[in-house]
Amino acid sequence: MSVISNTDWPESFDFETDETCQSVFKPFIEAQLNTLREFDAKREQWCRENMPTGYYVTYKFYEHTHRVSEDLRKTALHIGLPEKIANNLYWAMLPHDIGKQLLPVNIWDLFEKPEDDIKRLRRSHTELGVEIVKKQLGSYDHPFIALLSDIMLNHHEQVDGQGYRGLSGDALSTPVRLASIVESYDGWSIRRPHFGRRNTSPEGVINRMREEKSHMFDQELFEAFVQMKLREYKGEA
Ligand SMILES: [Fe+2]
Ligand SMILES: [Fe+2]
Repeated sequence: MSVISNTDWPESFDFETDETCQSVFKPFIEAQLNTLREFDAKREQWCRENMPTGYYVTYKFYEHTHRVSEDLRKTALHIGLPEKIANNLYWAMLPHDIGKQLLPVNIWDLFEKPEDDIKRLRRSHTELGVEIVKKQLGSYDHPFIALLSDIMLNHHEQVDGQGYRGLSGDALSTPVRLASIVESYDGWSIRRPHFGRRNTSPEGVINRMREEKSHMFDQELFEAFVQMKLREYKGEA
């Protein structure tokens, strides 16, 4: 069975025309993303004061979230899903990292791989994000909120069960399995100090994902993502 026939793609509403999506959820997302952009600015300020001259923040959360949301949208279209579903996924992915802005500013930009306690703190951004959603939108019983919360809580899960919460395979919805692919790709594409000489070109990252990390991902969705990405890289998409 092809991934396109999976039943848990979000098709029961249309973010563009749904009254509540437009009048409540869209302004919520835009406000949260503004706060995320301000948080990035605080990180840059912290780096100026605490990191050596010449260090600058390459992995800005506000930019990351737009890249991954666009990748999700484009992959959905590439596998033949309708514009409506691709757009619903785009909007549901945009706020996936808002929990980060509730965490300290000094835990994100480090020269070395983070220690376990820092890692734990960073990883709590998924649950903190869901808390924000519950607090501000908890009264809405809407499939978009279910989708957004699912992606927010589970975008670092892996099909092999080695992700943040240890969910695996069938326990992960199709949107979440695709979100975890675009998330990982972006994380490995933006050069950071602890990467050393690692190849961060699209082909380099895709090869690494295919050869060393394939256990993490849904293979059918991964290959669809790769096709989309390579076409885009060659200027065909
Ligand atoms: Fe995340
Ligand atoms: Fe992310």
